[in-house]
Amino acid sequence: MQTRELGKSGLGVSAIGLGCMGLSYGYGPATDTRDAIALIRQAFERGVTFFDTAEAYGPYKNEELLGEALAPFRDQVVVATKFGFNFDANGGQSGMNSRPEQIRAVADQALRRLKTDVIDLFYQHRVDPDVPIEDVAGTVKALISEGKVKHFGLSEAGVQTIRRAHAVQPVTALQSEYSLWWREPEQEILPTLEELGIGFVPFSPLGKGFLTGAISETTTFDSKDFRNIVPRFSQEARKANQAFVDLLAEIAAHKKATSAQVALAWLLAQKPWIVPIPGTTKLHRLEENIRAAEVELTAEDLANIESALATIKVEGDRYPAHLQARVNR
Ligand SMILES: NC(=O)c1ccc[n+]([C@@H]2O[C@H](COP(=O)([O-])OP(=O)(O)OC[C@H]3O[C@@H](n4cnc5c(N)ncnc54)[C@H](OP(=O)(O)O)[C@@H]3O)[C@@H](O)[C@H]2O)c1
Repeated sequence: MQTRELGKSGLGVSAIGLGCMGLSYGYGPATDTRDAIALIRQAFERGVTFFDTAEAYGPYKNEELLGEALAPFRDQVVVATKFGFNFDANGGQSGMNSRPEQIRAVADQALRRLKTDVIDLFYQHRVDPDVPIEDVAGTVKALISEGKVKHFGLSEAGVQTIRRAHAVQPVTALQSEYSLWWREPEQEILPTLEELGIGFVPFSPLGKGFLTGAISETTTFDSKDFRNIVPRFSQEARKANQAFVDLLAEIAAHKKATSAQVALAWLLAQKPWIVPIPGTTKLHRLEENIRAAEVELTAEDLANIESALATIKVEGDRYPAHLQARVNR
């Protein structure tokens, strides 16, 4: 697979990474550990060198999974993880915590769980309103100088936060939601990242599966599936948002590709420093998603997509209100 550099950081990764969250968390029951390890190793064998996890996925289980799966080729891949929450006894998130002592503790624990001596990319998962971002950046800077971390990242941070953090410790990548049905980052975020030389890692690049066409208004989700509480996934919203699915299917047929591939190729076509991290629990979809790097959208294709999108209005928020308050700060 082609590789890309995240901004001007010098960090090179496969053009498409693997989002590992769904193997342990978020979309129903966790995948059997042996199957999950096999999938991660198959991703590496097929050229994926960028793996995304977080302390919060499980919590802890997803990092442990990656630690085991990546051990045989740890030095050939880039592992990104995240800090920033407290957890209750049942593993639920019980608030934000990016205090310096917490970041240090999470780094040490993540190193153990990931079975490694350095975290390649350490993101703040959400901006913590109680901790100045300068303190967060300063703590990660110290971890970098101690050799425990290589690169600093932010997730769902607003442009002022990005600038303030970057002034203390250069930010290698921002990881925020971006896809054909969530284009807000184009307004302020992408120009700021370009100016500062920061890479962009779109999460949920397949719209949490919706843009692939595999989900319809009649789909039912497992009781533990996060999409049950996402307004954009209410039955009504899915019905209204079918227009996105239809558009993608039409372009995919024209390009002799799949809808998932077009959704990923569109992201890759926006900027050369964008690296999407689609998640899947299935080998055939992993292979399909990887091949998106070979789908080239021409200027005409992109213009056609643009004008078709202008006629579609997305229905439903991307987060329920209590989680929406934590993004773009
Ligand atoms: N920083 C953050 O706050 C944040 C938030 C959310 C996610 N993330 C990261 O971003 C990664 C990706 O995001 P995501 O998992 O939310 O959403 P996504 O990649 O947009 O979609 C994943 C969903 O799409 C399905 N899927 C994948 N490939 C498919 C294909 N080719 N055809 C049909 N369905 C397909 C998967 O189901 P199957 O498993 O059944 O294939 C899964 O349910 C996560 O794994 C995580 O690492 C970060």
